[in-house]
Amino acid sequence: MKSTIELRDVTKNFGQFTAVRDVDLFVDAGEVVCLLGPSGCGKTTTLRMIAGLETPSAGDILFGKSRVNNLTPEQRNVAMVFQFYALYPALSVEENLTFPLFAEHLSKSKRQARVADVAEILQLTDILNRKPSEIAEGEKQRVAVARAIIREPNCFLFDEPLSRLDVELRESMRGQIKEVLQGLSKPTVIVTHDQLEALTMADRITIMRDGLIEQIGTPHEVFTKPVNIFVASFIGTPQMNLLGVELIRCNGNDAEVVLDGNPLKFGVEAIASELSPGEITLGIRPRAFSLQSESGKDAISVTSEIIEPMGAETLVHARTISETEIRVVVPREKKVTSGETLHLRPDPGQTLVFNKHGKAAW
Ligand SMILES: Nc1ncnc2c1ncn2[C@@H]1O[C@H](COP(=O)(O)OP(=O)(O)OP(=O)(O)O)[C@@H](O)[C@H]1O
Ligand SMILES: [Mg+2]
Repeated sequence: MKSTIELRDVTKNFGQFTAVRDVDLFVDAGEVVCLLGPSGCGKTTTLRMIAGLETPSAGDILFGKSRVNNLTPEQRNVAMVFQFYALYPALSVEENLTFPLFAEHLSKSKRQARVADVAEILQLTDILNRKPSEIAEGEKQRVAVARAIIREPNCFLFDEPLSRLDVELRESMRGQIKEVLQGLSKPTVIVTHDQLEALTMADRITIMRDGLIEQIGTPHEVFTKPVNIFVASFIGTPQMNLLGVELIRCNGNDAEVVLDGNPLKFGVEAIASELSPGEITLGIRPRAFSLQSESGKDAISVTSEIIEPMGAETLVHARTISETEIRVVVPREKKVTSGETLHLRPDPGQTLVFNKHGKAAW
């Protein structure tokens, strides 16, 4: 039977408090879905319900076509990797990997074959005889993943698996884990509050806030078509600029707005019919401006304040005449200095519009 995970209208209450509300989610075989969101939004609780460590207050959890609400974690046969993975310190890497197999009553030669396979996948073959104290952090993490996949579980559940690793190691582990998971044709759910982790590892990202799902989509969709201001500001670094403006009129994709008393006219990605004149928010990513040589109605004039070199690019913190802050990323060659006046023309294809309720106007 094909392995999938499905949540239907799942809610979790702790006393009066609702930690997860009406969550619908489908994770296909071989698919990696990340649960992303700020601290306390219900990511771990959702994962623990899938694992069988928490019981939903309402709704159904299905593996394939079977409802698993009443099954124990062992019966569900899930593999979970936590942030604080614990390896048995007295056992070698090989023994750590063999341990989960004892429950399966395999012959010794079968056990050895499985250990060898998994060690190969996660590049642990050369360190099988070492103790956890004798290997590096990244290797320990790989042992933890190996130990999770060795039982051939129905699905993989990771809770902030890489947060203990340093930045470089985290980057290489993301790719390695993703590659391993892709080869296994099981559904995977990864909890993280690191958006880079989500953007690089996930086939689809689920963005949560206060127990609710705000948006589910591919990394590209949530980045380019955020459904509301929360998602728009949560995804992408440096953070998207959100400019409160007054909409005068919107004709097709041409909008006339007033920002800080200045009339501006430029292209936007929006459905004009959904917009009525009044307060709206423009969402423009820091990389979605082009620098103009002169001021004009299609450009926002700002004064640069803080200049942050970021390698090939420079992040400039600037302000409009009435102190609205705007972040803009320019190529390093531009050599922007503090106090300089810049004229920023928003890229029409990347200028998002949110109505007064913060919802995207598509
Ligand atoms: N056993 C519990 N009893 C009462 N409240 C709980 C319990 N477990 C979690 N909560 C609450 O439910 C909410 C969601 O918690 P959860 O651990 O799912 O958040 P999270 O998204 O994983 O956050 P983080 O990123 O900090 O790990 C929080 O407000 C938390 O305090
Ligand atoms: Mg958590």
